[in-house]
Amino acid sequence: MSWNFEEITLTAQNEIQSASDLKTLEDLRIKYLGRKGLLAEIYAGLSQLSVEEKPLVGKGANILRNTVTALIEQKYKDLEEKEKSQSSAKQIIDVTLPGVGVSMGHEHVLNQIVDEICEVFEALGFVIHEGPEVETEFNNFTALNIPIDHPSRDAFDTFYLETPDPERPGRYFLLRSHTSPGQIRVMEKFQPPLAVVIPGKVYRPDAVDASHSFMFHQIEGLLIDKDIQFSHLKGLLSAFCKRFFGEKIQMRFRPHFFPFTEPSAEVDISCYICDGKGCSVCGRKGWLEIMGCGMVHPKVFEAVKYPKGKYTGLAFGMGVERMAMLRYGIDDIRMFYENDVRFLRQL
Ligand code: PHE
Repeated sequence: MSWNFEEITLTAQNEIQSASDLKTLEDLRIKYLGRKGLLAEIYAGLSQLSVEEKPLVGKGANILRNTVTALIEQKYKDLEEKEKSQSSAKQIIDVTLPGVGVSMGHEHVLNQIVDEICEVFEALGFVIHEGPEVETEFNNFTALNIPIDHPSRDAFDTFYLETPDPERPGRYFLLRSHTSPGQIRVMEKFQPPLAVVIPGKVYRPDAVDASHSFMFHQIEGLLIDKDIQFSHLKGLLSAFCKRFFGEKIQMRFRPHFFPFTEPSAEVDISCYICDGKGCSVCGRKGWLEIMGCGMVHPKVFEAVKYPKGKYTGLAFGMGVERMAMLRYGIDDIRMFYENDVRFLRQL
């Protein structure tokens, strides 16, 4: 049998070129190059040809095979390209769909309360001053007129570090047990008149329960000038309580003792739950304790080397957790530290 290679090549070329999908192209590959395809048939017939014809037909078949293979490969690439671009065109972007929301965090409730309290005092002319959490025994106790045998100086009542204080032999650094050492730092650095608030963390080795934590936050206040009187203290703290808890709140001073203030008092506010009538939150007293305060003790002025008798001052210190618990009716201090977002999100 003789083959018209020129004609076969033209036909194959036309067929391959006009194949419009991969399936048609695959059928053509089988038709020409498959095991039972045209080329297989040509090669199978070679053995029956004469010695002269054999190399001619063989050569023609080889050329045909190479041409058809190349054409199919090229077409295959073209069709694949085409299908890809068609399927990506099908992925329509719906710009009207709502976007993926990013959830915004917010300040921890304790920091919010610290900011809010500090802002009240800033509006009254106070400036914010921060002291370190690692303090000297001198600043935390001695300079504040807390005697050497005071129970709070005991190693069991305070976190002492093993680092000795280079300035005072035999004395060690400790985690401050209140923000009052901040008073000493301010007075050692500045001369009156001065008015500062000192917010920060304090540490006491208390067993953790609903109302105790080994770490909590305080805000200290200190105002020193000539002729500062107890009435200034009372006026200042009444103004603060009204701003923070609302105009309706009642406040009272209860006599108390602190080594670094004289006279000293504890400040109570009327219970926000029962309005002063007595309930389980206030222990039937009608009042809730919110802070300690008093007039700066002359021994403290002596410790910071202020001239004797020249100045008087007032000081106060409040617990931030306590203020937040009273404001929001939170009954367990541990809630602040557990990082449970279901709780934090509400505040
Ligand atoms: N430092 C005292 C405490 O932690 C509070 C206080 C501060 C009292 C300033 C009087 C004046 O209990």
